[in-house]
Amino acid sequence: MPKFTRRQILAGAGAVILTPGLGRAAADIPVLEARLGRMQLVPGDGPETEIWGYGGEVPGPIIRVPQGARIQRRLVNSLPQPTAVHWHGLRINNAMDGVPGLTQDAVPPGAGFDYDFVAKDAGTYWYHSHNQSTEQVARGLYGLLIVDEPQQPDLDHDIVVVVDDWRLTEDDAIADDFNQAHDWSHAGRLGNYIQVRQFPDLATLKQNQRLRLRFVNTATDRIMQIGLQGLDGHVVAYDGMPLQVPEPAGPFILAPAQRVDMIVDVVAAEGEPARLLFVDRGQTYILSEWEVTGQQSLARRGMVAALAANPIAVLNDVSTTRKVPLVMTGGAMGGLQQAVYKGVEMTTEQLIENGQIWAFNGVAGMPDVPLAVVGLGETIRIPITNDTVFPHAMHIHGTHFQEVLADGGLGPHRDTILLAPNETREIALLADNPGDWLFHCHMLSHQAAGMRTWIRVEA
Ligand code: C2O
Ligand code: CU
Repeated sequence: MPKFTRRQILAGAGAVILTPGLGRAAADIPVLEARLGRMQLVPGDGPETEIWGYGGEVPGPIIRVPQGARIQRRLVNSLPQPTAVHWHGLRINNAMDGVPGLTQDAVPPGAGFDYDFVAKDAGTYWYHSHNQSTEQVARGLYGLLIVDEPQQPDLDHDIVVVVDDWRLTEDDAIADDFNQAHDWSHAGRLGNYIQVRQFPDLATLKQNQRLRLRFVNTATDRIMQIGLQGLDGHVVAYDGMPLQVPEPAGPFILAPAQRVDMIVDVVAAEGEPARLLFVDRGQTYILSEWEVTGQQSLARRGMVAALAANPIAVLNDVSTTRKVPLVMTGGAMGGLQQAVYKGVEMTTEQLIENGQIWAFNGVAGMPDVPLAVVGLGETIRIPITNDTVFPHAMHIHGTHFQEVLADGGLGPHRDTILLAPNETREIALLADNPGDWLFHCHMLSHQAAGMRTWIRVEA
């Protein structure tokens, strides 16, 4: 039986207006209501901030299930705009992927949509709006989705660390400048308030406690650089997918939408700080701090073991695999001369009039034809050339890829890869999930301004 929180029951009772097309109105689907809310976003006694959130909160309710569980949620749209929910990083049925115009229609205000899928991979995932997302995600429409391994690692605490970047006005309201050409053509809509929230939010730790830290970057556009102090351990997963061999944890980069799971021990002694650090333009800031009180045990626990693998194929030899190149152009100082938009060849001026400034293989916005048509079970390689002066975080829906490394080896599974300016990196993926899958830059401003395409996996 699905569980309801009191809030969900009340919200559901008041707000579910079933559209005629919604059909099979199973009474027991938990409601995920997208609506306005007010929160004390900035700590202190300043004003509350009006947000858009699932359940009226940011992040929305944490959805946490055992691996293999079925997840059902009835999206109820109480927003003034159409919306849809994308379950980021989950390898689920295409019809449940939540991409308006590709896998479903956007859900109009007052209507609903039933999502129903199986969480076949364990790990740290999240969900967010995929409609007018430069605005809707910036206003707070996202939540966490944690799928637990059947065999839990030995831990004292399991903490989700959500890092976000808000653009707030003087009165702590969310600035409503979501569609600015300058942001869209540069590094995206960057905020002025870096926020970290932890679930659970502990005040104190003990020396030699073992923690799992699940970092999630929910910012629309900002790349985060994060460090640890008084904590030492290993990275055990990227973007939800376990590493075969855990890597020593050090300072790390978290592009928009990326996740990193670490298992770390508190090595700070009583009175010393255990901290998360934030690095920006060479300066280090304290993102958050725990007080260390006492000792959990006299010594650290033993080695961090790898998490059990998820049921995704590991590629080995891709030397003869078909290549589908993707060239990214455009943006400020990018010299984009022309591109095709909605089937029409346009000059830069015409593109800008249409809010488009970036292109993939000479096409801005969703192309009529997919980047590739791939047979189910086929593997492809996508060399991605970033021919722009900005970094981009490329994300594929429906599966995870592996990077093809310089020596021909393959990196760990990921769903989002960060490319530096003027860098070429190559990914390989096994088409294991039939359907039409979006492939886009997860800097949501860039996505809106042209950086999206799709791949068709034929059953
Ligand atoms: Cu986080 Cu297209 O998604
Ligand atoms: Cu980008």
